[in-house]
Amino acid sequence: MWLQAFSIAVVALYAAASASNLDRYEGYNKYTVFHDGEDVFNYLVDLQTESTELDFWLLTRNMSVVTVSPTEQSTFESRLNELNAQFVAKPLMEEMFAFNETLSSCEDSECELNRPRRQARGFFSHFPRYSEILNYMSALAARHPQNCRYESLGRSFEGRHIAALSISLNSRVRDRRVAYIQSATHGREWITPLTVLYLANELLNNLRAFQRVLQDVEIYLVPLVNPDGYEYSFTNDRFWRKNRHRYGGRSCTGVDINRNFPNNWNYHGASQNLCSEVYSGTGPTSEPETVAVARYLEYNRHRVKLSLDVHSFGKFLFYPYGYSRNAAAPTRNLLHSVAQRAANQIAKYRGTHYTVGTSASILYEASGGLDDYAYGNLGIPMSFTVELPGENFQVAPADIIHICKETFAGFIEFIRHVSLY
Ligand code: ARG
Ligand code: ZN
Repeated sequence: MWLQAFSIAVVALYAAASASNLDRYEGYNKYTVFHDGEDVFNYLVDLQTESTELDFWLLTRNMSVVTVSPTEQSTFESRLNELNAQFVAKPLMEEMFAFNETLSSCEDSECELNRPRRQARGFFSHFPRYSEILNYMSALAARHPQNCRYESLGRSFEGRHIAALSISLNSRVRDRRVAYIQSATHGREWITPLTVLYLANELLNNLRAFQRVLQDVEIYLVPLVNPDGYEYSFTNDRFWRKNRHRYGGRSCTGVDINRNFPNNWNYHGASQNLCSEVYSGTGPTSEPETVAVARYLEYNRHRVKLSLDVHSFGKFLFYPYGYSRNAAAPTRNLLHSVAQRAANQIAKYRGTHYTVGTSASILYEASGGLDDYAYGNLGIPMSFTVELPGENFQVAPADIIHICKETFAGFIEFIRHVSLY
């Protein structure tokens, strides 16, 4: 009987140790592709919307990063060779384990022991889970009851709260201009909520220093737009992007929330294949996460002057329109100059260089994004998508604080413009 109990314990331990969010990537390759011809670019753009075996981490007009399952690698490589594209292939696991060493990777029991030390080093030196983020937010509000409100915008498909923080000089005054900032629309982009929470903490700890910026502006922060996808990227699949909408009897799961907003829905760079990484949903605003955000913005449309959607990675500041290269925003000069000012402020910290433009011209055309909806449908004058630094969705923990600090300078520059509208 003892032996039996022992072997059950061993099996359970083994299962716990082997069930990792990287399991399914055994044999995958990560390709960095260099291309300046239209041919390769167009080939990759088609793959992004049509293939379910390829996952684009980055796709620009001259360089792309894509992961490919073992079965598709030889076809992909020969096609790239035919098109004369230069590429570097690397086993994905190798790349992730290189990162894990810098993570001082720990077994579960060890992590438990390390927790006090980790917390002493501060919140911004690790990647917190959903519940840790909500605790952090509610603690901020509790510590600053005059200046911070903690609330829920609604619930995700799996029922998690989409939590928000409102920050202002006086939380009882409600009709101010709003600077709206959201992140983690895509589950795997772990660095993004940290930059938003860093902004919250800095503002609240230095209210007097930011008195001018906050004079007639309410800061509204939604760090986890897609809490289900975020959690799933910790527990099951490190590179999960979409929400976790399950369709009974269907094998694939999830909608790309940044293809689900009601602006030129499903026009370009989106797919009606449920298994695609850029599946746009059954219709515009079909997802509870999209509804939660759209409802808030619509209700407050006359107050919201700035909308920032924070993603990773690529070091870009995008302004509308993203759905078509042929659609020019009437105020594009102004959008460009505000974004360029923010980029200049970011660069001051340690020289990080951002590229400013429309995502349709720098990346690919993609419709149904928050940026186009906020600007085009709601008339929010300043609407941008931020792509934070990184070569991977895994940022080295020692880098987190630097990304938070440089991005903070950019956020403040954007917010400074809010009182002009
Ligand atoms: N990487 C982001 C995405 O693919 C960029 C979105 C830019 N905005 C847009 N409307 N296409 O979702
Ligand atoms: Zn993203």
